[in-house]
Amino acid sequence: MSAVKQYSINLLAWYDDHRREFEWRDRGMTPYQIWLSEVMLQQTGTKTVTPYYLRFIARFPTVAALAEAEPGEVLKLWAGLGYYARGRNLHRAAEMVMAEFGGEFPDQESLLLRLPGVGTYTAAAIAAIAFDRRAVVVDGNVERILSRYFAVEEFLPQAKPRLRELAEQVTPQLRNGDFAQASFDLGATICRPRNPDCGHCPLRRDCRALAMDAVESFPKKGPKPQRPQRFGTVFWLEDETGNLLLRHRPPQGLLGGMVEIPSSEWQAVRPNGQVVTDEFFYKQLEWQETGITVSHVFTHFALELQVIRAFTAQALVVEPPWFWARREELPHLALPSLFRKVIKQMERF
Ligand code: ADE
Repeated sequence: MSAVKQYSINLLAWYDDHRREFEWRDRGMTPYQIWLSEVMLQQTGTKTVTPYYLRFIARFPTVAALAEAEPGEVLKLWAGLGYYARGRNLHRAAEMVMAEFGGEFPDQESLLLRLPGVGTYTAAAIAAIAFDRRAVVVDGNVERILSRYFAVEEFLPQAKPRLRELAEQVTPQLRNGDFAQASFDLGATICRPRNPDCGHCPLRRDCRALAMDAVESFPKKGPKPQRPQRFGTVFWLEDETGNLLLRHRPPQGLLGGMVEIPSSEWQAVRPNGQVVTDEFFYKQLEWQETGITVSHVFTHFALELQVIRAFTAQALVVEPPWFWARREELPHLALPSLFRKVIKQMERF
């Protein structure tokens, strides 16, 4: 039998014995639950996703419950998962399912694609996993496995169309949900980016890269684009009871709609000493350096923030988007990981 035909037969047989158990993998999952898990898993690993997924399902057991929620509450539950556009789109997609699809997730990729936050990968994954439709599911795992199995010499990302074509060829007619999830499992446990466990791989007999003894050199990639570095200063302002001054970010853009600890602009040069911006009250305060810096990597740049601190004797009256938060409230706010890191460091300080 050809290597193309063997692929799904061997992968599915392996999956029957080695599938990983996840909260979103029990039998009888609703399309809503599958959609939620796939959106969470788009850029985040299974370990991180699991507690978030459970909290979401407990708070919003159905798409109707999610659609009725305040968008702010959804963002709070999302805080810490990153890529916050996903959190914003989640609520909009739930509203759309209610308004345009009568409360039922559509089972066709073309209709799923109309939901905010659902792209080619997610539409195919939902069609396959929730509805067992034949859909070609291609994520980074699939690209890595196929580029090795067929020893695709072309560089990523140019190789993507070729890899999609190969995925189309190996995708079986039946068991599409299992086939997609088998690929995720193989990619995570055997065909890992580094140090793959080829000795236990169900595809080893037909893997061209393995025959060439060059598994780790696939997928072929060009030089990594440099991630620019940016710097900024965080203004940690406490009143006499320890309340912290915070601000809501504008709804659009990076970390849109999330809560932040106010900071200077994020610039390409490292701040030299104290940088206090023009904010009306900042200039009158006595800022102290803390020596604390926090680093965070976003998709398009890396950020290093230095934290400076001041105290104000009487509580300043502030207007939205500014607000004071009690310290016990902090874990319940839509604070992204970057600012959670700042809080963690400052609490040790
Ligand atoms: N990554 C993306 N979707 C997944 C799933 N359903 N199971 C495990 N890992 C995944």
